Amino acid sequence: MNQDRDQFSSKWGFILAASGSAVGLGNIWGFPTQTASNGGAAFLLIYLLMAFFLAYPVLTAELLIGRYTQANPVHAFAMLSDNKTAKQIAKGFGLLAILTASLILSFYAIVGGWLIAYTLADICMLLGLKEQAEWMTTTSIPRNLAFTSSFMLLTIGIIMQGVKKGIEKWASLLMPCLIMIMIALTIYVMTLEGASVGLSLYLIPDPSKLLDVNLLISAMGQAFFSLSLGVGTMLVYGSYISKNENLPSLAKSVTLMDIGIAVLAGFLILPAIFVAQTNGLEIYSRDGQLLNGARLIFEVIPALFSSMGGIGKVLSFSFFFLLSLAALTSSISMLEVPVTYAVESSNVSRKKAACFVALIITGISFLIVYNFSTLFGLVVSIATEYSQPILGLFLAIYAGWIWSRNEILTELKQGFDTVESSGFWKIWPVYVRFICPSAIILVFLQLIL
Ligand code: PHE
Repeated sequence: MNQDRDQFSSKWGFILAASGSAVGLGNIWGFPTQTASNGGAAFLLIYLLMAFFLAYPVLTAELLIGRYTQANPVHAFAMLSDNKTAKQIAKGFGLLAILTASLILSFYAIVGGWLIAYTLADICMLLGLKEQAEWMTTTSIPRNLAFTSSFMLLTIGIIMQGVKKGIEKWASLLMPCLIMIMIALTIYVMTLEGASVGLSLYLIPDPSKLLDVNLLISAMGQAFFSLSLGVGTMLVYGSYISKNENLPSLAKSVTLMDIGIAVLAGFLILPAIFVAQTNGLEIYSRDGQLLNGARLIFEVIPALFSSMGGIGKVLSFSFFFLLSLAALTSSISMLEVPVTYAVESSNVSRKKAACFVALIITGISFLIVYNFSTLFGLVVSIATEYSQPILGLFLAIYAGWIWSRNEILTELKQGFDTVESSGFWKIWPVYVRFICPSAIILVFLQLIL
């Protein structure tokens, strides 16, 4: 199973590819939307706690399992124990991971399609093709079908090239550009009227919201989603990391990069919402509910750009173009999961597997497009708020209780030979064993009680 496995060429190659997977719509669309609809700073605070104290240890576990087993989730989870029942259960969770990755891709491709539509619309506007641009930026079923398919085609195209040529090259190109353009936009937004209202909503927490159950569930789901956890993506990427790398430190870099970009996106979008509102765009209903959360950044950001004159058009194009690429470096990491499984459990070629799996997922996306108001939110919620944390719980239990401590230590020592005397080894094993599972269970219990 582990022959012919492609590998990342360097530590940076991995950090960029894994951050490429982590950084995507979750940071720039999901996080600000969730923050705006869940009380601003209270959500930010809980999200940060969840990301550092729950998601980071689980990410380390997932990468570790990936590098140790060198396999797809179904085979990998089963390799952690010799016990027959434990193996069977693990296989079930492996399948759930693959299913969840596919479900996430099915809604992700729709939003990714909107991004491509907005990028092309900007080009059309520059060329004077106003009617076409309007079609692309107006919600309709044909528009959604066309662009969801385009997004999937791009994803398959990259996946077919394999890890080094495909994933690594794309990720290293775009991340720095995206960060720069976001910083420039944030500075501009801060100078506009209304921005300070958004900034205080983002930074001053309302203590009464901190323990709201829905907020806890959303923040936990968002933290797992944003770090691409539980669904096998990080496991498969972990299997491509060389044995000379220090895994906890790699996981730390990826976590910091991911959280940093989400927080930055908040500094841009929350003030921008209030700038847009000052200019007459309706964002919240009278009772304080966010109107049309799914499309938030597709209204607020364009409103911002149109207030900027000529330069706004160029910036708008760059923003949506880079965001499309950020979404692509995430979507390829999702498709990689079922594709790796298909290739390793049957004799099909990578290309055939990619096409076949992508076709099924596109079918699910179409179903969502046709029943958008009922299915979209439901699929997002099932996959990210329930399935991902449950898979995180499974990973913590297997890494904490089932997988042998000696094997974990031997794996960690590769690339980190002083691990035994490090602070990491004093805290992490106890942490994934007790704290992570209890915290996840506690959040779910709140929902029932
Ligand atoms: N982390 C990605 C984002 O924030 C989404 C993702 C989830 C990617 C699960 C892979 C697996 O956009």
